[in-house]
Amino acid sequence: MRHLMTPLDFSVEELERLFDLAADIEREPSKYAHACDGKILATCFYEPSTRTRLSFESAMIQLGGQVLGFSDAGSSSATKGESVSDTIRMISCYSHICAMRHPKEGSAMVASMAASIPVINAGDGGHQHPTQTLTDLLTIRSLKGRLDNFTIGLCGDLKFGRTVHSLINALVRYDNVKFIFISPEELKVPDYIIEMLKEKNIPFEEVIRLEDVMPSLDLLYMTRVQRERFFNEQDYVRLKDFYILNKEKMDLAKEDMLVLHPLPRVNEISVEVDEDPRAAYFRQVQYGVYVRMALILTLLELA
Ligand code: NCD
Repeated sequence: MRHLMTPLDFSVEELERLFDLAADIEREPSKYAHACDGKILATCFYEPSTRTRLSFESAMIQLGGQVLGFSDAGSSSATKGESVSDTIRMISCYSHICAMRHPKEGSAMVASMAASIPVINAGDGGHQHPTQTLTDLLTIRSLKGRLDNFTIGLCGDLKFGRTVHSLINALVRYDNVKFIFISPEELKVPDYIIEMLKEKNIPFEEVIRLEDVMPSLDLLYMTRVQRERFFNEQDYVRLKDFYILNKEKMDLAKEDMLVLHPLPRVNEISVEVDEDPRAAYFRQVQYGVYVRMALILTLLELA
């Protein structure tokens, strides 16, 4: 039985197979409409989410399966003091696969050790968010045609943004990917990631001004300042509008640069950019469903 805790749980070859399957689902969804008949997905979300939870639910329903679950810790037995390990044991009797989101780093891992069904980490605190990374990779592969040979700018909250941490981890396995980290001093990429890049000899730069690097980017990954992970509100207020991607900044970019964002967006991308053909963040949401469909099929060994 397999779980998904970090994007590195799949080898590059396994990811290729997963993305090929997702692409086939995109081409011919009807072929998969009953692939999960009789199967149940549990979504155990101890932290607010709309996109990721609904994306999982939509994926399972489109495969012919059913879903159950809870969408905040307050409506689960966690309020009675039940441990994640006990909860997953119970969930294992009710369903065939589980997607779990938890504010504490490592919770999904703890759950996977007690589970008798595959567990998918749907975000654990500021740590990892592997299915967002699968979404990001499938989007890049589908729209750019490759996962190597590019310069990617990651902009915004690089300290608390788990999607950023997962994506960097995944991209270092592809050839000739250069990273440009764009953030205020207070929200820089954690040291452990910088150390990892140095160890692997992966080229990266850290800058503060987005305008300066715009022309050299093939991909721009924008992120929201993660309010819920700040220790005080003043720091959040001071940093929240540090970057706003607008039309003028887009004018500095390459004609085929893509803008990605895991969403939800707050102010960091002005709505005027939505009309720009290079804005790929809503197409990214659709790829998120295809890749979750492919993931469910793979972990249930139905593909
Ligand atoms: C991201 C997350 O939850 O980390 N959202 C998502 O899953 N699409 C990004 C965010 O909340 O900023």
